[in-house]
Amino acid sequence: MPPFQGSANVVAIEPRALHWADIGMPLWGLKRGFAELCRDHRSKPGGGKKCAVGLITAQLQKCVSEGVGHRTIELPPNLWRDWIRHHAVRLRNGRERTKRVSFRVTIPSRLSTNESHLMSVPYQNIVHTLRQAFPQPVSDRVHDAYFVFSFLRALDQVDRMKSVSPLLGKPETLDYSVAKNCRVANEPSTLEHVTEELVEHLSGLFISGHARAQVNVVPAPTIPSIIGGMLPSIYNPNLCSDESGRRVSVAEVEVTAMTADLIGYPVEQAGGVFTFGGTGTLLYGVKIGLEKACPGTAQTGLHEPAVLICSERAHYACSTVASWLGLGEQNVIQIPTSPENEMRTCLLETMLRDVLKQGRKVAAIVATMGTTDAFGLDDLAAIIEIRDRLRDEFSLNYTPHIHADAVIGWAWSVFNDYDFTTNPLGFQPRTVRALAGTARRIKHLGLSDSLGIDFHKTGFTPYVSSLFLLRSAADLRLISRDQSATPYLFQSGHHHPGKYTLETTRSGSGPMAALANLRLFGKDGLRSLLGHLVTMASELSTHLKAHASTTVLNADNFGAVTLFRVYPDGVDTFTIPKLEQTDVSYRDQLKANNAYNRRVFELIHDEALQGRGIVISLTDCYRLSDYGEPIVALKSYIMSPFSEPENVSAVLDSLWRARQIIASEQ
Ligand SMILES: Cc1ncc(COP(=O)(O)O)c(C=O)c1O
Repeated sequence: MPPFQGSANVVAIEPRALHWADIGMPLWGLKRGFAELCRDHRSKPGGGKKCAVGLITAQLQKCVSEGVGHRTIELPPNLWRDWIRHHAVRLRNGRERTKRVSFRVTIPSRLSTNESHLMSVPYQNIVHTLRQAFPQPVSDRVHDAYFVFSFLRALDQVDRMKSVSPLLGKPETLDYSVAKNCRVANEPSTLEHVTEELVEHLSGLFISGHARAQVNVVPAPTIPSIIGGMLPSIYNPNLCSDESGRRVSVAEVEVTAMTADLIGYPVEQAGGVFTFGGTGTLLYGVKIGLEKACPGTAQTGLHEPAVLICSERAHYACSTVASWLGLGEQNVIQIPTSPENEMRTCLLETMLRDVLKQGRKVAAIVATMGTTDAFGLDDLAAIIEIRDRLRDEFSLNYTPHIHADAVIGWAWSVFNDYDFTTNPLGFQPRTVRALAGTARRIKHLGLSDSLGIDFHKTGFTPYVSSLFLLRSAADLRLISRDQSATPYLFQSGHHHPGKYTLETTRSGSGPMAALANLRLFGKDGLRSLLGHLVTMASELSTHLKAHASTTVLNADNFGAVTLFRVYPDGVDTFTIPKLEQTDVSYRDQLKANNAYNRRVFELIHDEALQGRGIVISLTDCYRLSDYGEPIVALKSYIMSPFSEPENVSAVLDSLWRARQIIASEQ
């Protein structure tokens, strides 16, 4: 070791170099390691040296606990010299007579007697090995590279599973009996083995972003949104409070503000929280509505009949919520819909009037802004007008809460200020009409009292990223819990959603993924993506309408989803859909054609599982016929930004192949 002398008395330490790679301890262990070093030195003869050791050690400990990469510690040179000697510190670029000397500090890899004893204890060895499987709490470039590389290797393995088909890997027969025999092993495994096994679990999975996967409203997540979802997974900020969520909590507020502005809520008054899915957003909306209609329910339970009103095409989550909130599924009133899959508002008025006449309370009216199968859009403005009129007519002492289930349709709010006349993004006329057709309903979202948004549907994020938005954040008081229930929380910070959220542990992944895409896309990006999907869907719709053996069932809905039926040769597709819908004497034919469409689906699905053709889905009941028989429909949901006209043709080719096979079976 070069002699240390001269005037240098300011030393920069790189605490990074003092890490576990040398002494095998993560943060807490590191602190303990320092404490031991102190003790070690205090017990040694050497008079004043112990002060130096103690002082430097304490400083370093502070560095680490504050996460500071560099810290300047001022000490007289002789004390540094002592410390360096005692810890076998290697001088990296310390030079004699320099004013500022930087040391790379390396704790000797030889452990103290105490520690060697510990490391020979089996559990300690296991802990030591498992530490490698954790991201390192203090920057360690070598280990950080290992972390990244482990990811890269997993992604490489996944990449090898890709082909031109919409499947990852090979078609898999799923064996749950083998799965049920799985048990936890005694010995730990390695990161590498576990990763390989995890990757294998993706084999046979449909690739949601593949242009020939048109299954459901499942988007391809963008890379920034995957990163946004992943970063909190590394650090586990809890968005219960900004005590623990810090700037990730701010991300939730940013997304809430951006989205509130997008859909037309007054941003200053609005509020919102991320939750566990579209169903979660509905649960929040109806819970708040119930508390408005029947104050005190949260404390004393429900003592009077209350109903939830929605359309017959609303998602079954309405029934789930009614059941879970104690309203009862039988108190869900479903309003019939028009052929456009929209709530018939005249019937809403009639049925709402009946409810109020009977003295029943209205927990919430749910307007579905994008139905699951057909992309039907309720007329929110009309619903609100009816609600207000009947509230006044019946002199209600509360305003029935209107929740917009916009988990699918919200994204179209980027067109609220799009100029369809000049059409700056250059959409085809057919697409402009389709987008404008949706925008005319979506522009009213801002009138609702609350709404649900799924970024993991039309916002292109990974699961789960759902935002519950409230027009007036003041309504959150209706679901706030008493501070005395949470004595261990909210001791510091300024933003505490955990005071009113259902969940205590709240992941930052949803908000960060959403933030990523709102930033990535801007309005024009989302407009262009949606415009592209709608263009592809309308291309498919045009072909299906043109062919003699197919008919489109949701021709007057303008989303990315196409519902259609296929018929055997000889069926007059100009008349049969209407007769199936309205004429009870066609019940048997309807049933036979339902079976025919199920068979088409099976054949297409089998082909898809083999990695050929396309993946579409089937809905058992796109709607009921007027005489109560479910009507089956095939469904293409185009969600891939990679979709091109040839993928539309692939749908048609698959249909024709299936028809031929069925014809040969008869
Ligand atoms: C219109 C609508 N509402 C609610 C939900 C429920 O959302 P989640 O599955 O995220 O709970 C869905 C799901 O597809 C939906 O389509």
